Amino acid sequence: MKFSVLSLFPEQVRDALDFSMTARASDRGLIELELVQIRDYAINDYGQVDDAPYGGGRGMVMMCDPIYDAWRSVVEKAAHDKEDRSNDCSDSVENCKSVHTIFLSPAGKTFDQAMAFELSKKSHIAFICGHYEGVDARVIEEIGAEEVSLGDYVLTGGELAAAVMIDVITRLLPGVLPDEEAWQLESFSDGLLEWPQYTRPRVWRDRAVPDVLLSGHQANIDREREVSRLIETITKKPELLNGQSIDRTLWELLAKRLESDAPNDE
Ligand SMILES: C[S@@+](CC[C@H](N)C(=O)[O-])C[C@H]1O[C@@H](n2cnc3c(N)ncnc32)[C@H](O)[C@@H]1O
Repeated sequence: MKFSVLSLFPEQVRDALDFSMTARASDRGLIELELVQIRDYAINDYGQVDDAPYGGGRGMVMMCDPIYDAWRSVVEKAAHDKEDRSNDCSDSVENCKSVHTIFLSPAGKTFDQAMAFELSKKSHIAFICGHYEGVDARVIEEIGAEEVSLGDYVLTGGELAAAVMIDVITRLLPGVLPDEEAWQLESFSDGLLEWPQYTRPRVWRDRAVPDVLLSGHQANIDREREVSRLIETITKKPELLNGQSIDRTLWELLAKRLESDAPNDE
């Protein structure tokens, strides 16, 4: 999977990803990170890439041309690479659909695990990172980029949002996690949260690990974990259960657990 990041501060993305899982995935050739400095496509020798907003107001707005030219360089290179192999992307770079382009924006659709899963099926994603007051809207329309937000708050730039998305998508790629199915057991993969995790010591500040986890009885442990993740979801993120169909046996196990946890009045 190839990620191209178009930005005025591409080092921020590189630095954020240069650790742990993403660094290993890159070393092993499972992902490729291409950083494109938008300032290399400035409109003049002074390196200008932004200007004052029409209509007045504070701050600067990133101009169309530097972003468009930077994006074209990515798409042209991709078309060229692909032509070398299959020659099926030769008509026009604008029509080349092999690069899925995302514009990071607070106005976009909010990124989540389901979107990450869909994006993990692409072979090449380009991220356009805005900065300052934002980006001239016309270039995003012209490119036809998908607008994606990290959440309902305002970041200084799109760089950290791009790094977060690349991290999440990379975890879903075949061969990245040590156990191929590991991500399927993680929070959100089937709509529920993961169960609470524990490690040594067995008792910490009078808080003991649930006995069943020490029983060595795998079927009981699995059942305990299923009930725990349902409780975790109901108590911490009940909205995840909207529209979910939960297995009847799981509700029965939950009822049993609540019964056994209930304080005895006698
Ligand atoms: C300071 S922000 C501009 C905010 C803009 N003036 C507004 O009020 O919506 C600069 C850039 O950061 C990125 N950004 C900010 N918040 C974001 C978010 N929640 N998700 C994704 N990108 C974001 C966008 O690329 C944006 O163009």
